[in-house]
Order: sequence, then C-alpha cells, then structure tokens
Amino acid sequence: MSGPVAVATWRFGKGAVEGALKALRDGGTALDAVEAGIRVVEADPEVDSVGLGGAPNSEGVVELDAAMMEGRTLRVGAVAALRDVLHPISVARKVMEETQHVLLVGEGALKFALEHGFRRQDLTTEESRRKWREWKDAHDTIGLVVLDGEGNMAAGCSTSGSAYKLPGRVGDSPIVGAGLYVDDDVGGAAATGRGEDIMRYCSCFLAVEHMRRGLSPQEACLEVVRRIYEREGKVSVYLVALDREGRYGAAGIKKGFPYAVGSEGRSLLLEGAYLVEG
Ligand code: GLY
Repeated sequence: MSGPVAVATWRFGKGAVEGALKALRDGGTALDAVEAGIRVVEADPEVDSVGLGGAPNSEGVVELDAAMMEGRTLRVGAVAALRDVLHPISVARKVMEETQHVLLVGEGALKFALEHGFRRQDLTTEESRRKWREWKDAHDTIGLVVLDGEGNMAAGCSTSGSAYKLPGRVGDSPIVGAGLYVDDDVGGAAATGRGEDIMRYCSCFLAVEHMRRGLSPQEACLEVVRRIYEREGKVSVYLVALDREGRYGAAGIKKGFPYAVGSEGRSLLLEGAYLVEG
C-alpha cells in the first residue's frame, strides 16, 4: 500500500496538498486532509477563483460552490450558490456529516451555515471588485484528492465558479460525478474548467470508471478529455486523478494545466498531459 499522497489542480494546489499532508501528519483522516487543504486556498485572497477574493457573479456578489466525498462510504456533501461564507468546503462537510442530504443551495445553504456557527463575511476584495468593474474573465477550481496511509481516500473541490455568471448558476464542482468522485476500491478524480462542459460528461465519475477497468490515472484523465474534445472541440476541461495505489495523473484538452502532487512531506508542481497545444 502507498503512503499518503495528495494531488490537486493548478499551481495554487501546492498549498492545498501541503495543507492536506500536514493534516494527515497531525493524525487527521483523509476527509480532514481534504478540508484542511482546500481551506488554505479558500482563505487566500490572491486566488481569484476560490473563496475570499473569488470572482463575483454578474451582480458583483461572490457565490461559491463546494463539495466533499468520502471514498469508503461514498457519502457526499455539497453547497452551491452559497454567499458570504469563507469556507464552503467546511459547510459541505457539515451537510455530509450532519444532514441526510447531499446538496444545499443559496439561501438554504447560508441559513444552514449560520445555524452551524459559520460567520457571515464579505468575500470581495479591492482586487476582485476592480476586476468585476473591468469585467475580466477568470476561471479555476481547487480540486483535491487524498489517499491516507491506510487506504482511505477523499476528494473535494471549491470554487467561485465562472466569473460574472448569472446569479444562481451552479457549475460542476458541487455535483457528484461531475466535479469530483472517489471510491476507495479504485481511486478518485477532481475537475476544473468550464463546468457546463464538465457536467454533461459526468467527467469525474467517468475517470474513476476508466481506472476501475484498468487505466492508469493519467490515461483515465486523457480518455475523459478525449471524449469531450471529440464533440466539443477545444473547450477548457482539466482533470486530476489518484488511484488507490498512490499513482496519479492529470490531463486537459488544451496545453497549460499545472497541477500539484505531494507525498511524504514533499510537494511538487507538474504539467498535465494534453491533447492540443491551445
Ligand atoms: N469548474 C468550475 C465551474 O465551472 O464552476
């Protein structure tokens, strides 16, 4: 069996894998590791697509999507279009652990968070307000998959979604099988990119099923993006995957997908495989 391994999307995923591995070293579970790792990125105002400082919707309001999944039980918790809460990943975990539901949205999700002790705060920053005024595009998700030293896996993702989206728009990240999937028998995957394209192909479920039938994580990610590319062309879809043996991989349709991997106190940035130059 492999030692602990964490794999996450994008350069800022390095902070997430380091946070996840630290949580495991401190005695936490795979779920604790996913939550701790994603919280690092949610709290970073420099990341303009997740949590604090995330790109607002068309009305200038930050609406967050997040989800968490446990590979042993296939339990899932998720929130969508959640406003004013810094750590949607932690609210998603509470939905998983303290309700009989999978997904809470909008006002209901906010009410649930406030009832469970989360504090209300403005998630815009001077920088995000400036960008909103300039109406620039920005679009990335923190997705994280963790394998602990005992074969337990968990996955999570968190995002402010597509920049300047319609209020109420929900992307792939809080949708099980789309933005994330994990099964201890096989492995897990997390996605980033244009949620509308990721969702319609059940991308992360498909990646895990490819691993189940013997593909490596890298081949599984490539197979998913190839399927999407064949019908949609050069859209923005990227996946990371990790299997129960600790093997990992990542791929996008287009070139330019850095991802982070951490193991045994070491973390590094790698480039995902791709189908076309851009
Ligand atoms: N992949 C994040 C989103 O589309 O919302």
